[in-house]
Amino acid sequence: MNYSMPILLVCVLSLWTKGQATHCGDRQEEINGHCCDMCPPGTFLKKYCSKVEQTVCSPCAEGYYSDKYNIFTICEQCQQCPRGYIEKCTSTTSGTCSCQSGFLCSNNNCSRCEKNNCQIWENPKRKEVSSDFSLTTYSYKCEPKCRGHEYFDVKEDTCKPRTQCSARGLAERIPGNETHNSVCHNSETQGGLFYVTLCIGFVLLSLTLFVFVSYTFSKKLRKHTANKPVQVVPAKTSDFHLSKEESGVQLMIQDESKDSSGPLHLEIS
Ligand SMILES: *[C@@H]1O[C@H](CO)[C@@H](O)[C@H](O)[C@H]1NC(C)=O
Repeated sequence: MNYSMPILLVCVLSLWTKGQATHCGDRQEEINGHCCDMCPPGTFLKKYCSKVEQTVCSPCAEGYYSDKYNIFTICEQCQQCPRGYIEKCTSTTSGTCSCQSGFLCSNNNCSRCEKNNCQIWENPKRKEVSSDFSLTTYSYKCEPKCRGHEYFDVKEDTCKPRTQCSARGLAERIPGNETHNSVCHNSETQGGLFYVTLCIGFVLLSLTLFVFVSYTFSKKLRKHTANKPVQVVPAKTSDFHLSKEESGVQLMIQDESKDSSGPLHLEIS
């Protein structure tokens, strides 16, 4: 901390002079009765102004910075990053330390690192856990990069809205998630075509089944009536309450079989 002493001195001096100065400009300081220009960021004060001379400023050396207008006689030292920088130190910024890729700083100077456990669609959100003098320790919580109805496009590194299939009147084929868009059935017509095909197929199948069943059934019936024609007759003789239609049907079947004992039957009806 060899550079903090002169800074403190300058601070005290500038506070004292401020009390006296009333007519100096915004970026000026009164030194020895003169309004001296302050030194811009990235520089430090080399020599105060005088009656005949402007303020003399000098750029910060490598590894040092000043981030505001100042009358400091020295630049501040940049942050020391044991494991590298996210942002390099410049003459106007102190830089930002980092840990190796895939790790996060566990404190403000990154002297300790911890593994980044967040998924690719999540951001680690930093929280200050404790702070003492110059060391602040951090903890992290993973938060989604995108909002609820969005997905994270890994290739393009951006959030994109998920396709709302139902809003387009389409069925969802694959639901979306944190990294993938939802996939709808290609189009309404294709979805319709699918159902039409399904319906035609069903109708054709049932028609075939019906034809097959009725064919085999009628074949069986013919065989049955052909083999046992006599059995029909006694049943008829005992039943005199047959309606006209029924006996008519019976007649037709008998007729078809061509093996009927016609005369007996006619007698019944
Ligand atoms: C998201 O869905 C895709 C398939 O659509 C799958 O490969 C991937 O693993 C899923 N990701 C998550 C985080 O569930």
